[in-house]
Amino acid sequence: MKKWTTVTFAAAKGKQKLGCCTAYDACFARLADEAGVPCILVGDSMGMTMLGYDTTLPVKMEETLSATAAVARAVKDALVVADMPFGSYQCGDDAAMANAVACLKAGADAVKLEGGARVCGLIRRMTEAGIPVLAHVGMTPQSVNAYGGFKTQGKTREAAAQVLADAQAVEAAGAFAVTLECVPDDLAATVTAALKIPTIGIGAGPVCDAQWLVMHDLLGLNEGHVPSFVKKYADLASIAKQAFAAYVGEVAGGVFPPPRA
Ligand code: KIV
Repeated sequence: MKKWTTVTFAAAKGKQKLGCCTAYDACFARLADEAGVPCILVGDSMGMTMLGYDTTLPVKMEETLSATAAVARAVKDALVVADMPFGSYQCGDDAAMANAVACLKAGADAVKLEGGARVCGLIRRMTEAGIPVLAHVGMTPQSVNAYGGFKTQGKTREAAAQVLADAQAVEAAGAFAVTLECVPDDLAATVTAALKIPTIGIGAGPVCDAQWLVMHDLLGLNEGHVPSFVKKYADLASIAKQAFAAYVGEVAGGVFPPPRA
């Protein structure tokens, strides 16, 4: 297979639907890459999937850089996108630029940041500096406290118009693709038709150009709340628990390790 770039990813719009996912370490990133996942997001969802927090807000820049470097070391073909954590691009554009540069130095091919019109100045500055940006509009989890929970966005006519305007603004600012999270299917279809860049949906219906799933949801590793739009493609939590229990049982029973010759 050939290495995916932001250019080939964007060019797939209208030709190939792309199933993309998150990964946060070298082991699972290598498996996803070898299975043909075209784009791997080192998501700030790691705060919830890997670090045990209730939201993505506590994730630190050092954690993103360490995970991005691990994923980038393992991946051969997938596009690697580092998700800029909360606080890494809200505290001034110079600091945001330095953090985005650090993501690329850690091995990312691009960065993702949340927001529409309000982050367009930053998207423009990054893309002009050669840092490809994947935008994220609709439900942006870093705004969970402003929403009062993880809630579908764009449900009223005005809110839907705002999501469309945000998506058009990030495209005009230079984003190579845009994540559409938790918006009604018909709004996702309208945005997808209105843009030249690909939309990557999560909880946004089937019409988007590509899809995200969080790796722990896809593999059945998440035993907490799983959003209703998720499809679980495996039940690794059960398999892992059976293996741990079998090991504990065999050690307790004197079966493992066997005597060595
Ligand atoms: O962090 C993440 O996993 C994400 C996806 C939901 C797109 O931002």
